[in-house]
Amino acid sequence: MKPVYFAKKPVVRKEEAFIVGCYENLRFDSSVSELLDKEGIGRESLKALNFKGEAGEVASISTPRGHLFIFAGLGRKRELNREKVRKAIGSAVKEAKGRKAKKLAAVMFDFGRKNEGLAAAFAEGLFLASYSFEKYRSEKKEIESVTVYGTEELKEAFYYGKILAEAANFTRDIVNEPGNVITPEALADKAKDLASRYGFKCKIFREKDLEKKNMVGILAVGRGSKNPPRFIHITYRPENPAKKVVLVGKGVTFDSGGLNIKPEQYMKKMKMDKAGACAVLGIMKAIGELKPAVEVHALIPAVENMPDGKAYRPDDILVYKNGRSVEIHSTDAEGRLILADALIYGSDLNPDFMIDMATLTGACVVALGHYTSGLFTPDNGFADKLLSLSRESGEKMWRLPLDEDLEEEIKGTQSDIQNVGKSRYGGAITAALFLKNFVGEGVKTWAHIDIAGPAFIEKDWKYYGYGATGQPVRTLAELIKEMK
Ligand code: BES
Ligand code: ZN
Ligand code: ZN
Repeated sequence: MKPVYFAKKPVVRKEEAFIVGCYENLRFDSSVSELLDKEGIGRESLKALNFKGEAGEVASISTPRGHLFIFAGLGRKRELNREKVRKAIGSAVKEAKGRKAKKLAAVMFDFGRKNEGLAAAFAEGLFLASYSFEKYRSEKKEIESVTVYGTEELKEAFYYGKILAEAANFTRDIVNEPGNVITPEALADKAKDLASRYGFKCKIFREKDLEKKNMVGILAVGRGSKNPPRFIHITYRPENPAKKVVLVGKGVTFDSGGLNIKPEQYMKKMKMDKAGACAVLGIMKAIGELKPAVEVHALIPAVENMPDGKAYRPDDILVYKNGRSVEIHSTDAEGRLILADALIYGSDLNPDFMIDMATLTGACVVALGHYTSGLFTPDNGFADKLLSLSRESGEKMWRLPLDEDLEEEIKGTQSDIQNVGKSRYGGAITAALFLKNFVGEGVKTWAHIDIAGPAFIEKDWKYYGYGATGQPVRTLAELIKEMK
């Protein structure tokens, strides 16, 4: 982890790119104005760069004293919101990176009032944009340290935002690892490390245990790979928990499609098919830091989907522990098969909330694009809650219907259900309807989040760069923190 310093009085140093915010019409907070005067930066130099302080603008100037100043446009003070703050500090950090800065200093924007939400967002944008995955580069360009100047009253909120961003960055680090490094067993090791760091209970089921527990989906999908499957169960239990939450994450460490092998252009980037699992681990990291009042169980079915002599095949019929029989129509619709085991197991824990997250369908990306996750839940109140948190976090979600008329699509011919719809229309919905078959009646609230679009992006987008985004870690960490 890079060192972070929090101080009150700004000091400009040669080795640090110095980030300041600027409201429209080049209005600065008084402490920043003083610094600019000292550095000999007048308004004319900013005007010459066509910088006005509007939201989304960014400019940089090397001062006569040899300091690199970066200006983040904030627009109108009273129109500022969390996402604008994240984007503004995020673009400034990206500008600093473009200027090859390795150390950052930033003056917390002047929000004009005590505003914890904006201070947290400032930290989120700062640390999400500072992230880079450089483990395998011989020449590192990563940010080495960050100094932040802010008032004591917003310090706690700043550190809260830092916890959320670092939880998301932890997720990004694992998602970005390739399939030759993160096998199901390696993912289980990550879970164990996390659990021992925060004092969580952690059980890992190996093949024998999977057989005993009748986890037929995980066993079937896992059989086609030399790297054996695992099932991970982490438990966080505070004293007298107010609620019980189960989180489930799809952990396909690589999705080749299996015997229904993917064509080249669709197989690329399928190391990200474990993003749901990694998000669950990231949420658990945030929980370890924030210690909420609710009991949380993290469940991860982990497999590698490969074609092999032992691989499961189209036409195979699986009979799940809850009695449902499933005919395989495509070995590439593997995510729902392993999630089914986890949802049955999770239902037996009798949770108040069960939320699964998965890079489940290409259809969801077709429907919503790369920047929005699909949200499915029969519970209107819970949908509203999640959507409103998601608007605040900038991890965009959009509700899609669990349309009963589409249930016909996954009715089996020689089994109860099949793992793919009869037509390809509504593919994200039929996948969600499939999952619903494995959510027990006793589960009060269930939601499914299809993160196939936003989990991994291939171009720069707001405070993210190429690669994993860590969605929806921040939204769900906030949800759980607020639960009582
Ligand atoms: N992992 C894929 C879904 C996916 C696609 C994730 C693109 C991220 C980006 C999933 O296992 C899959 O292959 N789904 C199939 C389902 C089909 C066979 C019904 C798909 O979406 O094409
Ligand atoms: Zn697949
Ligand atoms: Zn998949």
